[in-house]
Amino acid sequence: MEHALVVCYSHTGVSLRLADLLCSHTGWPMGVVTDERPRSGASGTLRCIADSLLRRQPAIRYEGPDPSNFRTVVLVSPVWMRGLSGPMRTFVAQYARRLHRVAVIVTMNTGGWENVVAEIAARTGPAPYVSANAMVKAAFTSKEIEADGFGGRLEEFARRLQPGAAMPSRAPAPFVAIHPGESAGT
Ligand SMILES: Cc1cc2nc3c(=O)[nH]c(=O)nc-3n(C[C@H](O)[C@H](O)[C@H](O)COP(=O)(O)O)c2cc1C
Repeated sequence: MEHALVVCYSHTGVSLRLADLLCSHTGWPMGVVTDERPRSGASGTLRCIADSLLRRQPAIRYEGPDPSNFRTVVLVSPVWMRGLSGPMRTFVAQYARRLHRVAVIVTMNTGGWENVVAEIAARTGPAPYVSANAMVKAAFTSKEIEADGFGGRLEEFARRLQPGAAMPSRAPAPFVAIHPGESAGT
């Protein structure tokens, strides 16, 4: 089984930029989730909002390696309406049974990452590694990504997933680099 796969959904490019940084520095491959029906313009944004409010699972395409061949899948998604983006919701719903261990990176403007982590944990549980507590997770703003590149918390996030890094199966959370300015272990 291979080590880690990064699976990204991005509407405006921020999450994709972060996933690119992560993959180019770690050598991990990337899978990409895209909308079957493109979300351009104001009507596309309205559909993002409606998908979120109604917790819909819009049709997607997934291009990339089979996630079941990887020990860890890092899911990278933007926050929408303080929750999970619709297309990543679809991916998680469709692939939950094929995911061994999940880690999560959320991109956002100001907040809402907790709900993203909670929904992914709920949809991928109850495997021991995918409770919200035990999950390796981090949230980034686009400003932080541009300022730090692959430095700081993103590098630390990747380090925590390297083979041999301590990964207790049932809490305490191994490292929670949640939010700019927040301390580890919270
Ligand atoms: C429909 C919609 C809802 C959003 N809701 C939130 C939100 O609740 N909290 C937040 O911090 N950012 C929110 N954002 C901003 C995005 O999460 C943020 O810009 C993200 O980095 C975009 O990632 P992407 O370029 O990969 O799509 C929202 C964006 C959209 C399009």
